[in-house]
Amino acid sequence: MEGKMVRSRPEPLRIGNVLVGPPLVLAPMAGVTDSAYRRVMAEFGVGLVVSEMVSVQGLLRGQPGSRELCVQDPPLPVPMAVQLFGRDPELMAEAARRVEAGGAALIDVNAGCPVKKVIRQGAGASLLGDPDLLAAIVEAMKKAVAVPVTVKLRLGWDSESIGVVDLAVRLASAGADAISLHARTAVQHYSGEADWSWIGKVKKAVNVPVIGNGDVTSPALARKMLRETGCDAVMIGRATQGNPWLLAAIAEDLGYPVHCNSLPGWEDFSETVLGHIGAFCKSRPRCSGHFRKLLLWYSKGCPDAVRLRTAVSGTDRPEEMLDIFRDWVRGLNDRGVSFLSSKVPAERPPGETGSPVAGLSGDSDPRVSLSGGA
Ligand SMILES: Cc1cc2nc3c(=O)[nH]c(=O)nc-3n(C[C@H](O)[C@H](O)[C@H](O)COP(=O)(O)O)c2cc1C
Repeated sequence: MEGKMVRSRPEPLRIGNVLVGPPLVLAPMAGVTDSAYRRVMAEFGVGLVVSEMVSVQGLLRGQPGSRELCVQDPPLPVPMAVQLFGRDPELMAEAARRVEAGGAALIDVNAGCPVKKVIRQGAGASLLGDPDLLAAIVEAMKKAVAVPVTVKLRLGWDSESIGVVDLAVRLASAGADAISLHARTAVQHYSGEADWSWIGKVKKAVNVPVIGNGDVTSPALARKMLRETGCDAVMIGRATQGNPWLLAAIAEDLGYPVHCNSLPGWEDFSETVLGHIGAFCKSRPRCSGHFRKLLLWYSKGCPDAVRLRTAVSGTDRPEEMLDIFRDWVRGLNDRGVSFLSSKVPAERPPGETGSPVAGLSGDSDPRVSLSGGA
């Protein structure tokens, strides 16, 4: 059994002067990784959080929505990166200056987002096809700020144009302090499997840290990505939705202390969910749609989740949703269902092969199903 093997503890990730321990990163997710979300994930043991992507134009025009995306008040116990999207090197540099002044520990460039709104501006994944421009962006930002500048890439636009190894080398020469790689092409969006072999190829080619990303849903898969690709840290997105316990389990499995209850029950679950929702409501009091979404995410993987989903879908009143939620949790607690197995998959045997994605869904399946967003 893998549990009996002596496991090495991976080093913290160092990006410039920023230390990320455990080497576990919360992926940027537009519409998801807001300040309340980042706080919960930071408290459960992730080593670095990344903001939602922020439009450089919106930020420079002073749009309140864009400014809010960059704010974390009070600060977190772990560093926070702010991710910018745009395509003009000078504007990117100016936005970087402002974000640095606002307290970001790192600034990340979005060079992977495939959504139309971003592509139409020639930003996000469009930049994968223009290495000169992307390198010019990194150079301009590096001149503008003292904090580390990182870039988040996909493999390429499509399977015919995978150029990520050369691109990463170019960006490291331009001054990028680390590269994150979501190991899919832009046209794939979230279909198929992430091809981790490219993470290993990039890691071998560059002399800056590489953060691997795509389809990690369990402690075993996080270790597998580190082991197979040699990457310096693992970034996780979708599997964290409604599941900070997964991050705590991964951090602990990697040999890092976590400061939450490592054997939580339904009361801890309820406290976390209500705390998250309370923090969310403080920043966006009138947003009942997202309120519902949070409850649905947290119910994922739990027994009897359909009952909760059906009931909360029938109301727009947040207080009523909370009553339904409390009643549902009480029912699970009374039935004596174990909590943690609903959220953290059991270990798989070492050396297992096949799809890295559990990819299964269903109310009582302990593994996390993934579905794409932006
Ligand atoms: C809802 C959603 C929003 C996302 N928004 C961003 C974003 O703003 N910037 C970015 O670089 N990637 C974004 N991504 C991609 C994730 O950062 C990550 O690369 C992707 O989900 C693969 O990782 P995973 O398999 O762990 O989810 C988003 C993904 C989702 C599901």
